[in-house]
Amino acid sequence: MITTEPGGVPVTPPQQPAQPSAVRRRGAVVAAGLPLAVVGLLATAAGPAAASTVGSAGVGDPYFPLAGNGGYHVHHYDLTLGYDPKTRHLDGRAVITASATQRLTRFNLDLKGLKVTSITVGHAKATFRRAGQELEVTPKQPLRKDQEFRTTVTYSGTPGPVTDPDGSLDGWIPTDDGAFVAGEPQGAMTWFPANNHPKDKSAYDFTITVPQGRTAVANGVFRGQKTAKGRTTFRWHQPEPMAAYLATATVGNFKVEQYTAPGGLKVYNAVDPREAAAAAPVLKQLPSVLEWESELFGPYPFKAAGAIVDRAPNVGYALETQSRPVYDRAPDLSTLVHESAHQWFGDSVSITTWKDIWLNEGFATYAEWLYEEQHGGKSAQQTFDALYASPADSELWAFPPADPGSGAHIFEEPVYARGAMALHKLRQAVGDRTFFRILRAWATVNREGHGTTAQFIRLSERQSGMDLDELFHTWIFTAGKPAQP
Ligand code: TRP
Ligand code: ZN
Repeated sequence: MITTEPGGVPVTPPQQPAQPSAVRRRGAVVAAGLPLAVVGLLATAAGPAAASTVGSAGVGDPYFPLAGNGGYHVHHYDLTLGYDPKTRHLDGRAVITASATQRLTRFNLDLKGLKVTSITVGHAKATFRRAGQELEVTPKQPLRKDQEFRTTVTYSGTPGPVTDPDGSLDGWIPTDDGAFVAGEPQGAMTWFPANNHPKDKSAYDFTITVPQGRTAVANGVFRGQKTAKGRTTFRWHQPEPMAAYLATATVGNFKVEQYTAPGGLKVYNAVDPREAAAAAPVLKQLPSVLEWESELFGPYPFKAAGAIVDRAPNVGYALETQSRPVYDRAPDLSTLVHESAHQWFGDSVSITTWKDIWLNEGFATYAEWLYEEQHGGKSAQQTFDALYASPADSELWAFPPADPGSGAHIFEEPVYARGAMALHKLRQAVGDRTFFRILRAWATVNREGHGTTAQFIRLSERQSGMDLDELFHTWIFTAGKPAQP
């Protein structure tokens, strides 16, 4: 029996309340960082912008204007990191293989803090300039459109988290025995230079060296470890494309468990010993949860799986880091179900704009409802009804799921719970058979790719043969409590 509270966001809300001053300061940073690149684009929006040979400073996300960069696509990140939890010092080298999508005399990466010591593009030294989170790189030779190029960034320093518009922390978050590393929505840039937006997905390799006795856990398949001179190097390989925010390199004092699940899936769990007793009965369920989700959503999208259970009391949430979620404490079963469902919805099928975050959170929340329904708990209808009873002025109805309004609201109840309610309304309208066909088709058609809200509506209409405009209009686009449950 699991204990999902009706409408309960499956994460503990961040401990720190949103600080208006932090939001204002962020606004100022954005304004200061934008003018040159974006004003230039806006001024020439009629077309000449496309002729610019300077890659833009953002991919055009309205909530995070500087997130990601224009002008190239990253195929692969090869990250070599060394971290000492005692001094909190990080040494990094990132080898980034990318293709130019336009001619480029200059392009940006996102990197916040840390000191860059050298950058090469191809075999030649590049020049660079820092401007807030923008790392502007000028290669010696301009890059041709479609040219594949390799950028090597050497850097070091003391990484720390970013404070998000909602006041929560993400990125490199030091703990008492290492670091909890979770990058949604912005924090990847606190520990490696990235094209830091889910629009761009890439394969990854990680080589992480930590003091002997500590463990460094990243995404994908474990490729072995080696100890020499009091330090241990861990290697990880993430073959399927991954958004930068889903990368992790969590370091700590961990008990490691490795096994092959029925079906051949490689499982690697790393658990803080202080959380081990509480985590064990839940982690034991991981193979059966993934199996249950595979039956509903289609084959599990990755070669590896697992969990990182840390003790990170200042974090306040778990994250669906690809193939191996990170938990800030021993998770309960509904949280495990939620982060596992994200492997399909969010990780394999990614959003192209943060505004569409309900495609991740509404779906992962609905997976919790379904799990409960199919394991002897409340039906999804009962969960829906309990939520619908919330008074019209409650937080649940504060904004529509597909239009949170800003980055400050992307992890709030309307996205999670009302997003799940919208899916339940869809299920009611099209019937169970078609509904489950839609969920599976969504995960299959967009596997290892992206999906947008408009595409989800179109797919639902095509699969059902129904006009669903009004349903989606009411449940995901319109503010306030819908008049009819
Ligand atoms: N995506 C995470 C989940 O629901 C939650 C999350 C990530 C989050 N970053 C956050 C919640 C920042 C609050 C604040 O599984
Ligand atoms: Zn989630």
